[in-house]
Amino acid sequence: MKGDPRKLGFSTRAIHAGQPPEPRTGAVAVPIYQTSTYVQHALGEPAEYEYARVQNPTREALEENVAQLEGGVSGHAFASGMSAIACLMTLLKTGDHAVVSHNTYGGTYRYFTRILERYDLSFSWVDTSDLGAVEAAMQPNTRLVYVETPTNPTMEITDLAAAAELAHARGALMAVDNTFLSPYLQRPLEHGADFVLHSTTKFLNGHSDSIGGVLIASNPEHTEWFKLVQKSVGAILSPFDSFLILRGIKTLPVRMDRSEQNARQIVDLLVRHPKVQKVLYPGLPDHPGHEIQKKQASGFGAMISVDMGSFAAAKALLDGLRVLSLAESLGGVETLISHPATMTHASVPAERRAQIGITDGLVRMSIGIESVEDLLADLEQALDGV
Ligand SMILES: Cc1ncc(COP(=O)(O)O)c(C=O)c1O
Repeated sequence: MKGDPRKLGFSTRAIHAGQPPEPRTGAVAVPIYQTSTYVQHALGEPAEYEYARVQNPTREALEENVAQLEGGVSGHAFASGMSAIACLMTLLKTGDHAVVSHNTYGGTYRYFTRILERYDLSFSWVDTSDLGAVEAAMQPNTRLVYVETPTNPTMEITDLAAAAELAHARGALMAVDNTFLSPYLQRPLEHGADFVLHSTTKFLNGHSDSIGGVLIASNPEHTEWFKLVQKSVGAILSPFDSFLILRGIKTLPVRMDRSEQNARQIVDLLVRHPKVQKVLYPGLPDHPGHEIQKKQASGFGAMISVDMGSFAAAKALLDGLRVLSLAESLGGVETLISHPATMTHASVPAERRAQIGITDGLVRMSIGIESVEDLLADLEQALDGV
């Protein structure tokens, strides 16, 4: 396409934003600029591109694409979701404090508690779906409110606009890990967040074949800082991974729609099945965050957690499956199922897991785009065998 896609629909931007045809050949797919450096015009006359840790056209195309999809001013792509989070956290200085969703991804918990606390940053872990708890946790040195919604894996929903207002009233900034829903379903910057980040490893890439992360800023003041961190620390996303993620994002809307359709049918089966004790899915009308989710997102996503009541029942379910794959990660075209207590959240101590609802019977599913009849039949036979 010609011109700036900024005002066009989400699916058009997913395909075209940051990706004008390549000027030399007109290639519609952004080429993989697999180079470490660029020749300069003459001594003292550097060209636009100098060194690939700092600038790479394939990575820049992805950065522009995600910035446009999230409605931010700049995107910054990293070698993993964790390195995007690490870049964000460089905004904090010794002595600063952050309020964090208590149910955040286990790796984020590990990074904050085992690494950042050594640099005298402090954290309050609160149920951010309870705004009173967020308010009570704010301190004079609170610089950041860090939210995941829905949370991983217990699906708590935080009211983004209200949480951002609260953070700003106390002079703090708000960041949202939007990995679970993607910008197709939820755009936190539109609700007042200052930063949004993703593990692109999940729904954005969507094909379980790349590790990456992006951080999006809403204020140009932060753009320069994130660029400085990116070039100084160097945890950049490779050109090939940038290409894969750009390619994945082109089908994000159709994949998300299909995954959510499948998820709804699976939820219908799970809520009726006598072996399932509890189903956690924000699309269920009795989910405590259902109305907030309806207000701030255009869908409920493809992540479902169920409580099977015991480790033995969870294990029997996982062992009995044939089509659903037991694996860490989420957001791929294939349906993945995991046991948070021993997999994604094994780094969270047992007593903390118990406090935040990650029981030994909890099983998390990321629903893919397979034929739903196969997923339903597989789950039904495995549940019957529990
Ligand atoms: C919600 C969430 N945020 C961040 C991460 C970290 O991303 P990555 O594994 O790409 O470093 C993950 C990984 O599972 C995640 O689920």
